Amino acid sequence: MHELLNECIQVYDIIPLLIQFNYSLVNLPRHLGYLPGRLYDLNASRYGNQTELKTLISIFHQKGIKTVADLVINHRTAQKKDKRGIYCIFEGGTPDDRLDWGPWAICRDDTQYSDGSGNLDTGDGYAAAPDIDHLNPRVQKELIDWMNWLKAEIGFDGWRLDYVKGYSADITKLYMDNTKPGFAVGELWNSITYDNGVPDYNQDAHRYELVKWVQASGGGVVAAFDFTTKGILQYAVQDQWWRMKDPNGRPSGLLGILPENAVTFIDNHDTGSTQRLWPFPSDKVMLGYAYILTHPGIPSIFYDHFFDWGLKEDIIRLTSIRSRNGISETSSVNILASDADL
Ligand SMILES: *[C@@H]1O[C@H](CO)[C@@H](O)[C@H](O)[C@H]1NC(C)=O
Ligand SMILES: *[C@@H]1O[C@H](CO)[C@@H](O)[C@H](O)[C@H]1NC(C)=O
Repeated sequence: MHELLNECIQVYDIIPLLIQFNYSLVNLPRHLGYLPGRLYDLNASRYGNQTELKTLISIFHQKGIKTVADLVINHRTAQKKDKRGIYCIFEGGTPDDRLDWGPWAICRDDTQYSDGSGNLDTGDGYAAAPDIDHLNPRVQKELIDWMNWLKAEIGFDGWRLDYVKGYSADITKLYMDNTKPGFAVGELWNSITYDNGVPDYNQDAHRYELVKWVQASGGGVVAAFDFTTKGILQYAVQDQWWRMKDPNGRPSGLLGILPENAVTFIDNHDTGSTQRLWPFPSDKVMLGYAYILTHPGIPSIFYDHFFDWGLKEDIIRLTSIRSRNGISETSSVNILASDADL
């Protein structure tokens, strides 16, 4: 952990970028934290205990680095079965009854787990665990209290919101208004559009979905991962640079519309790494970084690329260029040409 910390501090000393940590050490999602249950219990993780986490965050803070907690709240894993033999009794991980819920806290259209008394799901269902009823006032209050505990007690500064397709943006806004993060980024991952397996040039439908989500979530510090830029860029780097300029002359991803709310990335623990659900061409990764690190938006560097792929020096060269030239998330872009071989 200390080695990792030192490495991270070196990176952040150069430029404060968001680092997406590598969750690929083990393959089972449960161990990665994407099927959480006892939300207040930070002592059961393979990565360390609550005391170590607080120490880590306070050392980051001493270095002027902020930390973002990965919030998986769409769904939740129950600890026990009810009388029907269904896993729907949740435990919060405290001596009192905070986050101790029953099947009433599950959306009633999640017929596998609920008792039919919850509200209908406001977003997509998630198959692997019960979908939580975010319209229930007790659920809302106790999740808000928990998020504020993560801020006040553990020291987190902001949120990465997992699977925000699973509940409406109004709910995200309620949570943002009541927890006031310094920064938040939502994972709204939908497919870009294709014609016979070839991505369409115009991906407006895809990026305006992100725009709509950001705005309905309150905007401001709330950003979205720029899946549009990732999708287009990984084709553009294969001699299709014309894709990077939209018909209005702007960058073609979310960063062409709402750069201050666009978190650009090349790969993450789902798209790349061991899962490889939608990987960037591996021999073009530095071209990808050359684009996102010299453009507006909030670029993020993937742990794997930096630490495991041997790209550290090259990435630092680019972050130095960004830093030296004062390129920020809102810098303006004037695309003179978007062609190969210039
Ligand atoms: C985790 O450990 C910390 C430090 O000892 C303690 O304050 C906290 O109550 C523990 N949490 C649980 C759920 O056991
Ligand atoms: C947390 O982990 C550290 C390192 O393994 C250990 O020294 C410490 O006792 C643990 N704290 C608690 C409360 O379990």
